[in-house]
Amino acid sequence: LNPFLGRMAPVSDNNALADRRRSIEKELSNSRRSSKVLGVPNEGSRRNSAVRSRCGSICEDISYLGSERRSIRRKKIAFVGCGQLGASAALLASMGRLAEDLVLFDIAEGMAKGKALDLGHLAALQGVDCDFKGTSNFADIVHADVVIITASVPIKDGMTREDMLLANANIMRSVGTAIKTYCPSAFVICITNPLDAMVRLLREVSGLPAARVVGMAGVLDSVRFKWLLAQRLNVSVRDVQAVVLGAHGDAMVPLTRYSNVCGVPLADLIKSGLISAEEVDALMERSVRFAYEILSLMKTATPFYAPAGAAISMAEAFLRDEKRVLPCS
Ligand code: NAD
Ligand code: 2OP
Repeated sequence: LNPFLGRMAPVSDNNALADRRRSIEKELSNSRRSSKVLGVPNEGSRRNSAVRSRCGSICEDISYLGSERRSIRRKKIAFVGCGQLGASAALLASMGRLAEDLVLFDIAEGMAKGKALDLGHLAALQGVDCDFKGTSNFADIVHADVVIITASVPIKDGMTREDMLLANANIMRSVGTAIKTYCPSAFVICITNPLDAMVRLLREVSGLPAARVVGMAGVLDSVRFKWLLAQRLNVSVRDVQAVVLGAHGDAMVPLTRYSNVCGVPLADLIKSGLISAEEVDALMERSVRFAYEILSLMKTATPFYAPAGAAISMAEAFLRDEKRVLPCS
């Protein structure tokens, strides 16, 4: 069936058919050239040529937009380790439209690839344009703007963060070397425990400036204390400011002097009898031990949603130059 004439062309009509086709193609080409608006062909053109013109015009515009897109600098985040926490962070980064390229690196290659596909489908569902890549090849983190590290040996109920020190130090050595090789300009957010030791090691191995290699813990520890205060005082979390500093472990310190509700210091709330000093001490104690409280409930996993959110707020502050003041290691 001839698409232009709408009938079978006999062999003897070959020359006439070729002439007819040339003339229609010329007509289409003129019609396309004068089309100004995406998908709107010239008025008065015949049905066939209108359909062809519409397709031609859309294709031209799509290829134009495509080339524009390539010339714009795409942002890239590499997630090194994509277990519970790394994958949750990747999910939040894509939903927050933080980057167009998201690389999921894990030694468990199939897990990285599978999660990348699943997250890609979710992004499509939510109308988010970004590309996920699952990999166990460090070369894929090349030119990453941000690297979020959660690679770690597994933890079980009864273990402490410090129990992972030696095994995770070995992992950090390989990750630090890869960052030095493939993305030495990246902003690196380490989450792997024991946090402060891992950050220190990463700085040494990667050779990046100290301000470019930070640890996520303060944001999480502070938000936990903030949540406890808001729950106890029955006020919105938006009106509570809480600050927890110190190494991420049993030695972290909730700073009551810097914690307040709508600007009213915690000490004044204690004086006014809204909360007792003993209760504040108990909240501080619970906030420091939250990781172990949750681990004892889940048995084989530590918290991951809130830690992922905390890391993504740091990545966002960096990528969007938000001038945030956030506690970090
Ligand atoms: P997880 O066990 O679910 O994930 C760890 C992932 O790392 C796994 O997928 C594993 O295959 C991968 N991995 C192991 N060795 C690797 C290597 N050499 N290279 C790349 N990937 C490797 O654990 P999780 O719940 O995602 O937690 C990750 C880390 O984050 C743990 O060390 C945990 O203690 C820590 N954490 C820290 C905070 C914090 O506030 N800083 C909060 C929560 C968890
Ligand atoms: C946390 O505080 C386990 O360090 C991790 O949730």
